[in-house]
Amino acid sequence: MKLWGGRFTKETNKLVEEFNASISFDSKLAEYDLLGSVAHIKMLGHAKILPQEDVDRILQGLNVLQDKLLKNELVFSIKDEDIHMNIERLLHEEIGEVAGKLHTGRSRNDQVALDLHLYVRDQIFNMVEKLTCLQAALLKQAEDNLDTILPGYTHLQRAQPIRFAHHLGAYIAMLQRDVERFMANLEHANIFPLGAGALAGSGFAIDREYAAKLLGFDMLYENSIDAVSDRDYILEFLSNASIAMTHLSRLSEEIILWSSQEFAFITLDDAYCTGSSMMPQKKNPDIAELVRGKTGRVYGALLGLLTVIKGLPLAYNKDLQEDKEGLFDTVDTLDKSLILYGAMIETMTVNSEAMSQAVTQDFSNATQVADYLVAKGIPFREAHEITGKLVLHCIQEKIYLSQLPLTQYQTFHPTFDDGIFAAIQPVAAVEARSVRGGTGRDAVIDQLNYFKEKVSQNVSWVKDKHPSF
Ligand code: ARG
Repeated sequence: MKLWGGRFTKETNKLVEEFNASISFDSKLAEYDLLGSVAHIKMLGHAKILPQEDVDRILQGLNVLQDKLLKNELVFSIKDEDIHMNIERLLHEEIGEVAGKLHTGRSRNDQVALDLHLYVRDQIFNMVEKLTCLQAALLKQAEDNLDTILPGYTHLQRAQPIRFAHHLGAYIAMLQRDVERFMANLEHANIFPLGAGALAGSGFAIDREYAAKLLGFDMLYENSIDAVSDRDYILEFLSNASIAMTHLSRLSEEIILWSSQEFAFITLDDAYCTGSSMMPQKKNPDIAELVRGKTGRVYGALLGLLTVIKGLPLAYNKDLQEDKEGLFDTVDTLDKSLILYGAMIETMTVNSEAMSQAVTQDFSNATQVADYLVAKGIPFREAHEITGKLVLHCIQEKIYLSQLPLTQYQTFHPTFDDGIFAAIQPVAAVEARSVRGGTGRDAVIDQLNYFKEKVSQNVSWVKDKHPSF
C-alpha cells in the first residue's frame, strides 16, 4: 500500500515505479531526513499540535532509526519511492499507527528542501576544511623550497625566473578564493524551508522559528513558494565546485608536465602513481590526470541543474528530483580530489637541481639585461631593442647571455660593464622583484605569511560556524 494510495484504483506500473523512485540515490540523505524529522516532531510537541505522549513515542522511534542507520541496518525499498517515505514506513514498523502523525503540517516538498539544505551546509564545511588542508600542504612545500628558482612561463615559453614558492603561492591564492566562495555559499544554504508545506505554507499553528533554531538555522524562507522551489544554493555549490575543480585541473596540467622526463622538475611519490601493463618503465601521474578529467563531470552537474531549473514553473515539480545525483557526484569527486591532492603534494619531491639547471640554460634573464640598461638611463624601448638583438646574436652563436664576453656586450652598447654578469644571475632576477606580490625572497615570505594567517582563519571559521546539536 502506497502512502499516497488513497485516490488510486490501480497498481503502479513497474517501470513507472522504477523510473519515479529516487531511493537508490537519496538514501544518502537518511541522516538529514531523520534530523529534520526529530526537529519537526519536537516542534509539533512544543506548539501543542500533537500530545506529548505521541511526540515521545515518535521521538523514541526516530532515535531507534538513527541508531540503526549508524549500524547500517536500515533496509530501504524501491516500493516506497524515496527516502522520506521509506523512513516513514520504517518508523511505522517500529512504533505502529502513531508514526502517521509525524507528517502533520509538513510535505515532502519542504522536507526534501530541508534535507538538501542540511546536506549542502555540511558539505560547505567539509569543502572549506579540505581546501584548507590542501593549502597547508602547498604552504609546506613552498616553505621547504623557498630558495628554489625555476623558469616562470608565459605562453608556455620561458619568461622570467621565479621562486618555486611563488608559483605555488598562486595556487594557494586561488584556493583561498574557493574557500571564500564556499563560505559565502553558507548564507543561502543556511535558510530554513520547513513550514512551507507543499507550497502555500502550513495550515497548522506551527512554530517555524523553534524548529529552525533546533537545527542551527538563523534565517527562514520568507516565501513558502520560494522555499520549495529554490535550488540556488545548490547551483552556487556546483558553481563553486566547478571553479575549484578548474584550479585543480590547472595544477594537474603542471604536475603532469613537471613530472615528465622533459621537465623532471618534480618526482611524484610511487604511492600516488600507477604503472603500465605493457611498458615496464612507465610511472604515470594518473591522479593528476583523473582530477583534470573529472573536472568535466562537475561542470556537467552544474550545466545539468541549470538546465533542469530554467523552464520550471513554480512551485515544486518532480524535475527537481534531478538535483541530487549531480550534487552527490560532485561532492564525491571534489572531496576525493582534494584528499588525494593534499597527499600527492605533501609526498612529492621537488627537484631543485633540475629547476635551477633549467633557469641557467635559457633566456629568462633577458628582461634583466633590458632593466640593467634602463638603470643606466637608456629608455626602456631602446633597451628592449638592444637586448632583443643580443638574444638573437646568442641564439646564432649557440650560447647563453652569461657566456657572452663583455667586449661583445659593448659592441651592442658602450654602457655595458662588468656588472652585467651579476645582474643576469637568476637570483638577481628574482631579488630585483621585491615589490609586494613579487618573486623576491622577502616578498614571497610576506605572501606565505599572509596565506598562513588566512589558513588559520579558515580553520576558526569552521569551528565558529559549524552548528552542533
Ligand atoms: N523524491 C522527491 C525529490 O527528491 C521528494 C519530493 C517529492 N514530492 C512530491 N510531491 N512528489 O524531489
